[in-house]
Amino acid sequence: MKTFYITTAIDYANGSPHLGHAYEKVLSDIIARHRRLSGDDVFFLTGLDEHGQKVQQSAARQGVEPQAFCDGVAVQFQQLCADLGISNDDFIRTTQPRHKAVVSDILQKIFDQGEIYKADYQGFYSTRQEQFLRETDKVNGKWPELFGEVVEITESNYFFKLSAYQDWLIDHIKTHEDFIFPRFRAKQVLEFLKEPLNDLCISRPKERLAWGIELPFDKDFVTYVWFDALVNYVTGAGYGTDGFLQKWPADFHVIGKDILVPPHAVYWPIMLKAAGIEIPKSLLVHGWWNISGEKMSKTLGNIVDPFELIGRFGPDPLRYFFAREMTVGQDSDFSPDQFLTRYTDDLGNDLGNLVSRLLNMGGRYTEQKVPEASVEEDPEKSLKAAWEGTADKVLAHYEDFAFHRGLEEVFAFIRKINAYAEQRAPWKLAKSDDPADRAALETSLATMAESLRLATVLLVPVIPQVAARIFDLLGAEAVDAYEGKLAWGNSLAGQPLGDKTILFPRPQPQE
Ligand code: MSP
Repeated sequence: MKTFYITTAIDYANGSPHLGHAYEKVLSDIIARHRRLSGDDVFFLTGLDEHGQKVQQSAARQGVEPQAFCDGVAVQFQQLCADLGISNDDFIRTTQPRHKAVVSDILQKIFDQGEIYKADYQGFYSTRQEQFLRETDKVNGKWPELFGEVVEITESNYFFKLSAYQDWLIDHIKTHEDFIFPRFRAKQVLEFLKEPLNDLCISRPKERLAWGIELPFDKDFVTYVWFDALVNYVTGAGYGTDGFLQKWPADFHVIGKDILVPPHAVYWPIMLKAAGIEIPKSLLVHGWWNISGEKMSKTLGNIVDPFELIGRFGPDPLRYFFAREMTVGQDSDFSPDQFLTRYTDDLGNDLGNLVSRLLNMGGRYTEQKVPEASVEEDPEKSLKAAWEGTADKVLAHYEDFAFHRGLEEVFAFIRKINAYAEQRAPWKLAKSDDPADRAALETSLATMAESLRLATVLLVPVIPQVAARIFDLLGAEAVDAYEGKLAWGNSLAGQPLGDKTILFPRPQPQE
């Protein structure tokens, strides 16, 4: 069986991680975990994009060598992965020797085929974007703000013949519905491809930029940062080793909408095609998190620090918020109020209360054990009926990356468990000496425990730490596969119940 290979974009090493970086890792992690639970052999890669002008400049500003600067940033990004509970199998850094070797190899291969040539170039160059510009990039006769300082330069450089593959690429996108998700993004790519492609300048003279991977065929140049960065996906899969084709082609490159066109949808497939490597199966393109209606930016001073949120609430509330609030592919808004509402309402009131209520009653009425369900009356029947089909629906949503919908279903079911508890009111039954009431009491706790276990199985990919905690409190086995875990049974009878626990404490007001 081929490995399911999923990657995130590799983040620029020129600053600290922010909410957008955290989101992409969480989204990819939820997919990776969902696939593992579905039985796939998964390889999940994330990492850091360490070369280029911006990194060189950031290091210079701090008065340190670029490598030392990147080492510091890498610690932060790796810490972010650990703190968010990201289950990546590898963390690639583009300054690693394994990566430099693969970039060299691929450049040499394309060069030997005659698809890279040297030419003089005179034109406008954006230092901020590290790219040459065309007249058509101007808006109302001016270079847009996004390009920063634009200078006119003449220099010799190496170019890659992109245009030779334009028709092939257009055809591939048109005939492979799954290549770009969501599909409306493919239209944007096709729109871009209506214009003839310019050949891509893939070198930078060392005198202008020293911080990069040297061209194997000309040591006066380093390679353009995108040519270097994109290659991480094949390096990470072990390009050049026996295991490569076990992982490659990638099943999903998870990326933000800003880096679809042209890098991932145009440069990358063409680079691979030219190098004789299969192209990835799919690009999964997510939207952006805005902050209270505005773009997150240093200038606006509204960068949300994921470490702060994780420090206050733990990783799972943030993971839940990301998955519940964003429709994958669209932009979404982050506001502290919305975050707190999800934390308090869904996690605290719906899920957390159910857990503490059950454990509390288990301690008081059933010797801290899950009792037997011995009766099946209307309340049990209707809760079981509500469960029917829930798992299938939720998993189908997960398959379609509609995590927000899947979670909506799971939490609707959790609310039904709470309604069931209200209806059965075990705390009232506990006051009666009638054996029929005792049977109903035990049945109601057993039913709450079993239905909570089922709902929690569906939460494993999204809130893995909280889910593991709930299984532990219910005396249930840890879940590493959906199979065999989603059928209603009597699996918990006799298991010890944990002590009453508050899973989502009320947030303390911030100082
Ligand atoms: N280094 C390149 C990617 C190279 S991949 C071969 C890069 N780095 S980045 O740090 O600027 O962005 C990394 C990822 O974070 C991108 O997919 C980008 O879309 C995503 N996000 C950055 N800001 C974001 C938000 N505000 N919201 C959601 N994701 C965003 O681009």
